[in-house]
Amino acid sequence: MSVTVRVPAKVNVQLAVGAARPDGFHDLANVFLAVSLHDEVTATPAGELRVTCEGPDADQVPLDRTNLAARAALALAERYGRAPDVHLHIAKDIPVAGGMAGGSADCAGALVACDALWGTGASREELLEICAELGSDVPFSLVGGAALGTGRGERLTELEVGGDFHWVFALASRGLSTPAVFREFDRLGQGLDIPEPVADQAVLDALAKGDPAALAVTVSNDLQPAALSLFPELGDTLAAGRAAGALAALVSGSGPTTAFLATDAKSASDIAGVLRASGTCRDVRTASGPAAGATVLGS
Ligand code: C5P
Repeated sequence: MSVTVRVPAKVNVQLAVGAARPDGFHDLANVFLAVSLHDEVTATPAGELRVTCEGPDADQVPLDRTNLAARAALALAERYGRAPDVHLHIAKDIPVAGGMAGGSADCAGALVACDALWGTGASREELLEICAELGSDVPFSLVGGAALGTGRGERLTELEVGGDFHWVFALASRGLSTPAVFREFDRLGQGLDIPEPVADQAVLDALAKGDPAALAVTVSNDLQPAALSLFPELGDTLAAGRAAGALAALVSGSGPTTAFLATDAKSASDIAGVLRASGTCRDVRTASGPAAGATVLGS
C-alpha cells in the first residue's frame, strides 16, 4: 500500500520584508498564490527511512535527512512515537532552489502522505503546527489557494480569489540560496530605516476580483533587489518578458525563477515562446493559480 500526495509551487504576488529580527528571521507580509506546477510525493512502507527523487533537477535534491520531506516524516513519527519506516519518492517538477517553495511543497506532501499512510488521525491544526516548525513556507504548501503569511510567513490568513491568473515562469541557469538572498537584503538595507511589512490592500483587492491588470500594477517583491544583486543576469530575463508583453515581471520569492503575469492562457503561451527563444533562461513553464494545496491522489 502507498499514498501519493500532489503539492503545488507558489509565487509571491507581494513580498514585504521587515528588518532582521533577533532570531535572524525577518517579519514578512507575504501574499502567496499557489500555481499549477506540482511535485508528487509517494509514501510506501519500508524497512527504514529512504528518499528517492526523479525529474529534470533530481540530481540537485539531497536524499539524506536534510531533505525537508525526510524531516517531515521524522517529525511526524517522533510526535506519534513510531518508527519513520517509510520510503518517500518525490516526482519533481517544481524548480529546485528556485524561489517557488519546491522543498516546502515536498515537506508538506510528505507530511500529508505519511499521516494518511500511518493513520495518525492528526488534526489539520496539528499538521499546520508541524509544518510551521519545519519551514516558513511549508504551511502554505499544505493549504494552497492564496493566503497572506505574516510572522516569518508561517501565520496564514486564507484569501479569496475571484478568478484564474496565468503565469509564465523562466527557470534560471543556477539556483539561489534563500538565506543568502536575505543576507544580501540586510546588506543592501544597512543604515536604512526598514518599515514594518504590511499587506497591500490593492493586491488583496486585485486577487479578490480576479483582475490580472489590477494585480500587475500592484505586485511587489522586496527581495528582488537582493536577488538581482546576487544574480544580475536576471535583469535580462525580466526585460525579455516585459518586451514579450507580460503585464508584470518579477522575481519569484527569493529567486532566481522569474515570474511573468499574462492576460490569459493564450498570452502566457505567446510570452513563453518569446522567452524560450530569448536565450535569457534555462527553461520556461506556464502555469495558473490559484491551485489546490496538498491533495491525496490515491492509495
Ligand atoms: O523558514 P525557512 O527554513 O524556509 O527559511 C530559510 C532561511 O530563509 C532562514 O534560515 C532565513 O535565513 C531566511 N528567512 C528569513 N526570514 C523569513 C523566512 C526565511 O530570514 N521570514
